[in-house]
Amino acid sequence: MKDTLSRREFLKNLGMLGTGVLLAASPWLSAFSEVVETSGERCRLAVIGPGSRGCFLMSFLVKNPKVEIVALCDIYQPSIDNGLKLAPKAKVYNDYRRVLEDKNVDAVVIATPLNCHCQIALDAFDTGKHVFCEKTIGFTMEECYRIYQKHIETGKIFFTGQQRLFDPRYIKAMEMIHAGTFGEINAIHTFWNRNGDWRRPVPSPELERHINWRLYREYSKGLMTELACHQLQIGSWALQKLPEKVMGHGAITYWKDGREVYDNINCIYVFDNGTKMTFSSVISNKFYGLEEQILGSLGTVEPEKGKYYFENVPPAPGFLQMINEWENKVFDSLPFAGTSWAPETANENKGEFILGERPKSDGTSLLLEAFVEAVITRKQPERIAEEGYYASMLCLLGDEALQQEKTLYFPDEFKLNYLNHQAKKTETV
Ligand SMILES: NC(=O)c1ccc[n+]([C@@H]2O[C@H](COP(=O)([O-])OP(=O)(O)OC[C@H]3O[C@@H](n4cnc5c(N)ncnc54)[C@H](O)[C@@H]3O)[C@@H](O)[C@H]2O)c1
Repeated sequence: MKDTLSRREFLKNLGMLGTGVLLAASPWLSAFSEVVETSGERCRLAVIGPGSRGCFLMSFLVKNPKVEIVALCDIYQPSIDNGLKLAPKAKVYNDYRRVLEDKNVDAVVIATPLNCHCQIALDAFDTGKHVFCEKTIGFTMEECYRIYQKHIETGKIFFTGQQRLFDPRYIKAMEMIHAGTFGEINAIHTFWNRNGDWRRPVPSPELERHINWRLYREYSKGLMTELACHQLQIGSWALQKLPEKVMGHGAITYWKDGREVYDNINCIYVFDNGTKMTFSSVISNKFYGLEEQILGSLGTVEPEKGKYYFENVPPAPGFLQMINEWENKVFDSLPFAGTSWAPETANENKGEFILGERPKSDGTSLLLEAFVEAVITRKQPERIAEEGYYASMLCLLGDEALQQEKTLYFPDEFKLNYLNHQAKKTETV
């Protein structure tokens, strides 16, 4: 009951109850609008890969009364031990194929390193399980396509770890963008900066690759698959279309410690009308942190900060205006500056909050709740699998462009005709 209330509260805060006004921008929220009181049915889950992310997901799942974590599977005992602290009654497996044979498992959460997502997801669908797969879903674009096709063929529920789809700040921001509040969007800047080596402590040297898999190309594509995947999805959600092509450059400029993935990346994604979305990341300076800046002709949105800013702000209070004018006069009279000189550094406008207060969750708990509802009701929410699919495809296409140092176009054969698929899905579910 408490859960139903908190969900109702969430939807009410977004102005969604009754009106369904947000569904056009975020159709997957139907997962909640249709839920009344689902029966006493439970979702019996297996978590494959209860490492750092797997256990984080479990920390929400164990609080959901509709969930029973019936199995844990990992090839590394310390991860099993951590998982058992959260779900002490779960059956333990070391081979995911045995989990899939377990008739008590309805659905699997895949939180292993990227290189083994695809085989586990394909096998899970083939054995009739519903799938929640962490991002990035596949190691290559071909793998992502195969996973998506398998979801369509089997009609099983498929969610990916794109939690921003359920983050109230992002949902509200997208509604405002789509309503034209910020004018025409002609640029999106996304960046994710950190200052650290991105390494985890390794208990003994032979475990280096197992623990720090993110740093090696055999397992991961580094910053593109680990970070860009989230931010690129925001761009296509905002513009409601896919970029046509991508170009960029990546290098290891700072952390020259034997890693194989870039520590410094810049990518430009170009849409059909020339609008650009950039992704940049360095892990040797965190001053600007992480953000997606969506730039419209009338205003700017920064959903991560939860703020928006209109271009035309009220004039500064009299005193500040006087100083500004005085400074401009002083500098205007200097020969090097010329008469038109005026500071063009960032606007100091403090902006407005998208929602009254900063939400307590980044969307992960609601994403998982929606997955559980979908498994119980057997209803795949509209467009959720497709958002995850395209987010993965975009970061993998970007990585390929960096590797080849070429401009690459989104391949036609990987574009989804998902309206047709949707119809097929309804028949099979
Ligand atoms: N959505 C998000 O914001 C978010 C955040 C962090 C990580 N992730 C994703 O979650 C996944 C896991 O990341 P992590 O940080 O938890 O990594 P991790 O290394 O902490 O955990 C991975 C676990 O998988 C286990 N494992 C490896 N191969 C396996 C196999 N064949 N069968 C069963 N278990 C196996 C490892 O032993 C480990 O316990 C990655 O895909 C990552 O991109 C998503």
